[in-house]
Amino acid sequence: MSDFKNKVVYQVYPKSFQDSDGDGVGDLRGIINRLDYLKELGIDYLWLTPVFSSPQKDNGYDISDYCKIEPKFGTMQDLEELIAEGEKRGIGLMLDMVFNHTSTSHEWFQRALKGEKKYQDYYIFKEGEPDRIPTNWESKFGGPAWEYVPALHKWYLHLFDVTQADLNWENPEVREELKNVIRFWKEKGIKGFRFDVVNLISKPEVFEDDLEGDGRRFYSDGPRVHEYLKELVRDTGIEDMVTVGEMSSTSLRDCIRYSAPKEKELSMCFSFHHLKIDYKDGNKWELMEPDRRALKDLFEKWQLQMQENHGWNALFWCNHDQPRIVSRLGNEGRYWKESAKMLATCIHLMRGTPYVYQGEELGMTNPHYQKVSQYRDVESLNYYEILLREGKSEEEALKILAARSRDNSRTPMQWSGEKNAGFTEGSPWIEVPDNYDRINVERERADEDSILSYYKKLIALRKRSRVVSEGSIAFLESENEKVLAYRRDYGEESIVVLNNLVADEIEIGTDRAWEGYQKIVGNYADSDIKKDVIKLKPYESIVLER
Ligand code: GLC
Repeated sequence: MSDFKNKVVYQVYPKSFQDSDGDGVGDLRGIINRLDYLKELGIDYLWLTPVFSSPQKDNGYDISDYCKIEPKFGTMQDLEELIAEGEKRGIGLMLDMVFNHTSTSHEWFQRALKGEKKYQDYYIFKEGEPDRIPTNWESKFGGPAWEYVPALHKWYLHLFDVTQADLNWENPEVREELKNVIRFWKEKGIKGFRFDVVNLISKPEVFEDDLEGDGRRFYSDGPRVHEYLKELVRDTGIEDMVTVGEMSSTSLRDCIRYSAPKEKELSMCFSFHHLKIDYKDGNKWELMEPDRRALKDLFEKWQLQMQENHGWNALFWCNHDQPRIVSRLGNEGRYWKESAKMLATCIHLMRGTPYVYQGEELGMTNPHYQKVSQYRDVESLNYYEILLREGKSEEEALKILAARSRDNSRTPMQWSGEKNAGFTEGSPWIEVPDNYDRINVERERADEDSILSYYKKLIALRKRSRVVSEGSIAFLESENEKVLAYRRDYGEESIVVLNNLVADEIEIGTDRAWEGYQKIVGNYADSDIKKDVIKLKPYESIVLER
């Protein structure tokens, strides 16, 4: 397995990162122009969400050709240049492989629709009558997970949008096609891969109604998923590359298997349980105050079990599907800066590989859109309708979207205080948040105390400190739900990390775990550290080293 323990990954959502040609949509040339910024930040890998040919119903997660570049984003030459320019700066490119489904515009699906049996076997088609849906499963974007094709007299499965048809991994030809996609990109010099919802690829043998839920228990971490991953990795020779699987509604047990080196599946996994701690009864569309007790318990459980069983975590708060963390668990007002730095500290110094999502390093916030016309995401637009149908008022539905929409993280990267935050000369495909004059790269780059400067420190710390990249982890202050505290050890080296998760002042002192330690990083200039007690200021983080 490649050495990814002291590495940091940066995620770019190309559509919103940097536009170079004034059409309002970010592109590959824009990313090339910003590589020096990423180098300055200190990152090792750049994960690009899909830039392949796509009708863009789900912003590229609906792929119509895995080996071509979507013209909106640029050309193959641009991508090759990005690989080469990245390499010059020590940044490896990771591509996003969406192998659970293709766009219905993909040639395979189109040929299936024309009646070619071979390609019908590439997807999950079920013979049947239009009034008898094969199962009651729900699409993750709302509505039924099956669509009827009258001309074929068949239904097809789509766990996501109706234009994203699930592939049939039972078919060895499908698996071979997908291996060829990996081989193609590996050949081009790609250094790693992110696999989209890859724990959903293995469907059950029998398709039946889910009487308890939306169907996910039948296909999440499905029966042959480990076998398929092993085969894919072995046959494409990517064991030594950095690979991360996005695991939807997964189990800890499975994540250990996906990421333990001896299994030869993936380097690490994204799991999402810690980002559901503000979902009421597990429902994303019902608002609730974050349950910090649950958050702490999840971190402890996952960190310790992964450690014990040699699994590896992808550490993250933000991505293109999640609202901005500072708006969610931090404080956008008085403690904006402190809370953004504190949240970064929590993640970056745990055991695993940290991911930074574009703009997170600036403390970018949710945009607080007021009208439904400001939203672009297919999921948000579907759920807006669903919420109204369920009887919510427009106001309530908008409040929910403002907290939960995936568009919260898809707003343009805030480069400067200039027009459109320096993202585009044209008119941006999605509105820029109002606060770009205050929160932007230009300002934060010039400020040693900025959130950006703090991220640079955390990233540099991982590079120089084996205790951060390789050390063991143990948790402190387990009973205190307002503090996330842990200790990392590697040989004689040791650090203690204390994070106040809330705006209250908090005293800690029970185990005096910091005796003989010195503060090396923190989000306040002065900390109140006494022999017996530490007083943490609102959202304060303190990193101590022995
Ligand atoms: C993943 C992606 C998300 C996409 C979905 C379907 O969850 O992160 O953006 O909509 O898969 O491909």
